[in-house]
Amino acid sequence: MRAAILDGKKLAAEIRARITEEVTGLRAEFGLVPGLAVILAGDDPPSHSYVRSKEKACLQTGFHSEVYRRPESVTQGELLDLVARLNGDPQIHGILVQLPLPRRIEPQAILEAIRPDKDVDGFHPVNVGRLIAGAPAFVPCTPRGVMVLLEQAGIDPSGRRAVVLGRSNIVGKPMAALLLAANATVTVGHSRTAELAAVTREADILVVAIGKARFVTAEMVKPGAVVIDVGMNRVGDRLVGDVDFEAVGEVASHLTPVPGGVGPMTIAMLLQNTLEAARRT
Ligand code: GUN
Repeated sequence: MRAAILDGKKLAAEIRARITEEVTGLRAEFGLVPGLAVILAGDDPPSHSYVRSKEKACLQTGFHSEVYRRPESVTQGELLDLVARLNGDPQIHGILVQLPLPRRIEPQAILEAIRPDKDVDGFHPVNVGRLIAGAPAFVPCTPRGVMVLLEQAGIDPSGRRAVVLGRSNIVGKPMAALLLAANATVTVGHSRTAELAAVTREADILVVAIGKARFVTAEMVKPGAVVIDVGMNRVGDRLVGDVDFEAVGEVASHLTPVPGGVGPMTIAMLLQNTLEAARRT
């Protein structure tokens, strides 16, 4: 039997419709309009595309949206000045610095300059630490979206073996923390992991975020596993995930498509985090 498809596009649309209603209410009752500022530095084409999607989503949901596009030559000082200004702007409830930044810029210095209560990406060390400690925090959007997808599909990680492939600060590490907080037994696999296929075959829930097109084959998946594909790789003119969708679909019980799986959930969670930031003001 083929895997059930976890439809992130549909779920994200439902979440966005609910957020739009809440924003209408907030505006009517308190004159409050959630505001998101996005900073995009450099020429990375996928980043430009992601930021356009984020801007469009904000406007469709009734948010106030500001996008600051800066050239590859922007200095760290200029970015720090911009973050400082947005930290003090009462119209802005969330600040997102799109990664990767140009090579000369130290990303950690910029991320640490964002006020933790405006850090809707959850990348500031205060929010990272709070997540690990189990305290309320802004949770990075992609892993949060994966948890909502699992929950909506009735998949409870408690007591199950979860394997996260990839150890990035954006996805892998916070994903592992969330699955652990949900009482899964968590393993993080990465490029130096020995016998990787033996590790992934242990997984009841396999989350893949390594950025290699169709890397996970059917032989790497336990029959009946839930497979979440966070990858977005351009192959020719097609967008493909990190999982061989056709082959793994014959083995897994549940599988996310690319596109239309995790990607739309990331944007929905960015809106949700920004709404929560606005509500706290
Ligand atoms: N680059 C790739 N994914 C993300 C994300 O979720 N947030 C930011 N800021 N940059 C990214």
